[in-house]
Amino acid sequence: MSEFQGQVAVVTGAAGNVGTALCNKLAAAAASIALLDRDPDAMARVLNGLPAGANAASFAVDLLDADSVSGCIADVQKRFGRIDILANVAGGFAMGPTLDETDDATWNLMLDLNARSVFHTARAVLPLMRAGGYGRIVNVAARAALKGQGHMGPYCASKAAVMSLTESMAAETKHLDINVNCILPGTVDTPQNRAAMPDADHDTWVPPEALADVMLFLASNAARCVSGAAVPVYGRS
Ligand SMILES: NC(=O)c1ccc[n+]([C@@H]2O[C@H](COP(=O)([O-])OP(=O)(O)OC[C@H]3O[C@@H](n4cnc5c(N)ncnc54)[C@H](OP(=O)(O)O)[C@@H]3O)[C@@H](O)[C@H]2O)c1
Repeated sequence: MSEFQGQVAVVTGAAGNVGTALCNKLAAAAASIALLDRDPDAMARVLNGLPAGANAASFAVDLLDADSVSGCIADVQKRFGRIDILANVAGGFAMGPTLDETDDATWNLMLDLNARSVFHTARAVLPLMRAGGYGRIVNVAARAALKGQGHMGPYCASKAAVMSLTESMAAETKHLDINVNCILPGTVDTPQNRAAMPDADHDTWVPPEALADVMLFLASNAARCVSGAAVPVYGRS
């Protein structure tokens, strides 16, 4: 029997590239899945593509709105009765001008989408994990969290914040059976990246399924003694 049988995983950004791959892996591993994203139609397409017999349901949410997130997590708890795994996959990227020419909207979008979303979901889910005495949180930061780069200051800062929040939460839960880790993807092999960089060597990029494999490992019993880690997943780039 799969160790994930009977476990409930919450996946944010479930309708995106990595979220879809993760939902498929979790369903194949017999976990029950709560898909969180903002477009119900996009989530319905993911649900339809899951392996037969998957126990999954979608929950429309605005991850930037604290009330929307807490209401959504309450709905997940009502539907599934427990939350064992929280995978914070939702996030986004924006190139921009130099920092001195960056507008507030770009700054706010990057920090909100990448960091505030993690804050909102973790704040709503951690009390349930504490009460249940078990939890695995896996956040998606980025290779860019490790070093600021030109023309992407807000993005790098937001992913560094995800890494730092991961470490803080791991410190706060180290005496419990709750682990909090993050992954640092390099360039992911997505249709959007292929369209934006048609001449790049796509074979060096990371397939979404490879990221999902690492996230599943971090949610598994094999990673029971790993918390506060930031795992590089760069492919061959
Ligand atoms: N792609 C890369 O090369 C790369 C590299 C390093 C790290 N990452 C990280 O990997 C993660 C997954 O990337 P991905 O390519 O799978 O992204 P993606 O395909 O854009 O998926 C993100 C999903 O989150 C949803 N979302 C955005 N804002 C939301 C909100 N306020 N409330 C609810 N849902 C919201 C998006 O919906 P909409 O489509 O409607 O916006 C989308 O379905 C992200 O954290 C990203 O930063 C990606």
